[in-house]
Amino acid sequence: MLMKRNLNAAPIPCQRHLFAIPDEVAYLNCAYMGPLMHSVIQAGEQGMYAKLKPWEITPQDFFPDTEHARSLFSRLISADSEGVALIPSASYGLSTAARNIKVTQGDRIVVLTDQFPSNIYVWKEKAKTSGALLTFVERPADDDWTRAILESADEQTKVVALPNCHWTDGGLIDLEQVGKRCREIGAYLVLDLTQSLGALPFSAESVQPDYIVCAGYKFLLGPYSLGFLWVSPRNREGIPLEYNWISRSNSENFAGLVDYKDTYRSGARRFDVGENSNFILVPMLNRALEQLLEWGIDNIYATISRRNSDIAEQARQLGLNHIADHLRALHFLGLRFPPGMLPTSIAADLAKRGVYVSVRGTSMRITPHVYNTDDDVQHLFDALEIILSRHV
Ligand SMILES: Cc1ncc(COP(=O)(O)O)c(C=O)c1O
Repeated sequence: MLMKRNLNAAPIPCQRHLFAIPDEVAYLNCAYMGPLMHSVIQAGEQGMYAKLKPWEITPQDFFPDTEHARSLFSRLISADSEGVALIPSASYGLSTAARNIKVTQGDRIVVLTDQFPSNIYVWKEKAKTSGALLTFVERPADDDWTRAILESADEQTKVVALPNCHWTDGGLIDLEQVGKRCREIGAYLVLDLTQSLGALPFSAESVQPDYIVCAGYKFLLGPYSLGFLWVSPRNREGIPLEYNWISRSNSENFAGLVDYKDTYRSGARRFDVGENSNFILVPMLNRALEQLLEWGIDNIYATISRRNSDIAEQARQLGLNHIADHLRALHFLGLRFPPGMLPTSIAADLAKRGVYVSVRGTSMRITPHVYNTDDDVQHLFDALEIILSRHV
């Protein structure tokens, strides 16, 4: 299974000038938190200053930015904007999905071993209250998650809840194949794309999932506490988690809000979080998405992949390995240390030297972006060599 490459994709020149990352900081940890661009900060500031004069904020101002956000996100996933809802966290979107999927005793819910907890706890609860069985696909010895998932998803499977790549080491899942299998067996496909969207190309048209969630603060380079849910057309009549006023029909008419409505605004707007017209966070996320789309996701992927392949090459000389390229998302490098060689304090030791990565499980995650430079890579290896030489 190889990631289909866009042969027209071109690496993007370093974009560090758009960020506030000092030269002495090697920030290689986008999987933890994406940094904000100056332009994103400016968009947030404008939102803050607008509320200095609330008399200038009109009812009409509650809608255009959220509609723009739907449109931008839909372009990122190749889907329709009617299916997009604004949510505060991945767990909120996953809870919406779980609330609307019926499972009964004996049904199976399939997830990955060591999957991110927001996409586990909700299914644990669902299994507990319904009698369904939560099945963890074991980490395959050959790193081929796709094969392992396809082997596990059988006729009893009602839900398959997955990422596009494993959050600990970038292990790739071929979602087109999984989507096809889900349709064959009649299972819902629920995706948490928080560790991939914005950096790894994705198409809802090709995968045909039921639900997609994505937190906005990592590879979308947005602020914390705002993300997206996309709901496929067949699931858009579902029940939202909240009973907020703005998701009901005719909510644009503030004078008529107590003319209570049982109907909702169109599409997936019923699933929006309350107070989604967040005058600070929504323009910030919009600005970040505009920039990502301007760069082009294929080009971002080409840029980060190239950076990671240089890092992987140098890491091999230190005896550090990673999942084979055809089985990992190339924007996400998980360095594997020989047994006993990963110092528990390595992330903290690197941070003391101005290098930022994270350790998840037994893997050191390296997740650069378009702001990284060759000097950052040099900085990483200078620091690693010192720390590892002291450890042996
Ligand atoms: C795969 C994945 N999903 C979701 C999240 C964030 O979850 P939430 O928005 O529920 O806090 C993270 C954060 O690290 C993550 O790695």
